[in-house]
Amino acid sequence: MNRISIIRFLQLAAILFFIIFEASCTPRTIDYDQVSPEEKLIIRFPHVTGENTPKGLAAKRFKELVEAKSGGKVEVQVFPNSSLYSDYEEIDQLKKGHIQIIAPQTAKFSNIIPEAQLFDLPYLFQNNKEVWELADGPVGKELGHLFEKKGYKLLAIWDNGFKQITNSKKPIKKPADFFGLNFRIVSSQVIANQFELVGADSSVLAFNELYQALEQGKFQGEENTVSNINNKKLYTLQKYMTKSDHGYLGYFIVTDKKFWDSIPRDTRKMLEDTLTEVTDWERTTAVQMEQDQYAQLQKQPELTIHELTSEEKKSWKASFHDAYNAYISSINNNVIKDYVKKKEQRVP
Ligand code: SIN
Repeated sequence: MNRISIIRFLQLAAILFFIIFEASCTPRTIDYDQVSPEEKLIIRFPHVTGENTPKGLAAKRFKELVEAKSGGKVEVQVFPNSSLYSDYEEIDQLKKGHIQIIAPQTAKFSNIIPEAQLFDLPYLFQNNKEVWELADGPVGKELGHLFEKKGYKLLAIWDNGFKQITNSKKPIKKPADFFGLNFRIVSSQVIANQFELVGADSSVLAFNELYQALEQGKFQGEENTVSNINNKKLYTLQKYMTKSDHGYLGYFIVTDKKFWDSIPRDTRKMLEDTLTEVTDWERTTAVQMEQDQYAQLQKQPELTIHELTSEEKKSWKASFHDAYNAYISSINNNVIKDYVKKKEQRVP
């Protein structure tokens, strides 16, 4: 072997050594995924409450059941706590196709479907059973048609619970106690009317901005469920809570109709069956959580709670009554109007 051949041989050996060394050091890329990306249906499902809330737990349960039933062919990505979008942004993003399922508070759809504000009427429901009867009956069906007309599909209605009043200034027992206070509300004319009728101011703010706004004193009060007051620690900023149960807070589980219709029939059926199963579970869970978390709120030393007596409730109902007339004259739908008129008769 001459000198040049020896050099060539050494160069080749060095290259070979380098290749073998590299191969043994670089971890092999293993494709654990049994389903190719083209086969997989991804459903992005953002929401604004914490994970340990009726909505948070139900979204997680939906994800787990769907992924197990589909053998990984459908992946549900849940984003809690407004980590992807705020409550108003998510409605826009659904139409743009960036997300596939949303679960906003019913009131947040009132710009698109004004009839949806029936859920906000003060003291419309006496208990959860009345809400479920509405959701599963002709009014629920009618709401479904209204959603379809606007290009959405209403998949289910989930509960959070009944709303309570919190504020940082004073105990609110009678309607006159609201006078002059400023409340954060969600976008519903019915809710704005409710506060106006008792002489309070109100303005709309997204849920993810609520804690900071209360902390900065931009609002003195707000209305929310036991679960949200507890989970977002609003009781650390709001010294007074009135257990008024004056309104209902629930969620429209909504998708884009075109997207939903594009899903293969058997997969769509599996998703719809799973939603029915999760909705039953969510209803029981929400009732249980409301009881448990109310017990927790009662133990908070910084919070003073007043539970309205039935006499006090009567005078609240009387003060809010005109919200019914305003709602009834603002909508055209007879199925919904008749339902509200019937219920209105028992509100003094
Ligand atoms: C929610 O429960 O999704 C939000 C409620 C709120 O905006 O007050």
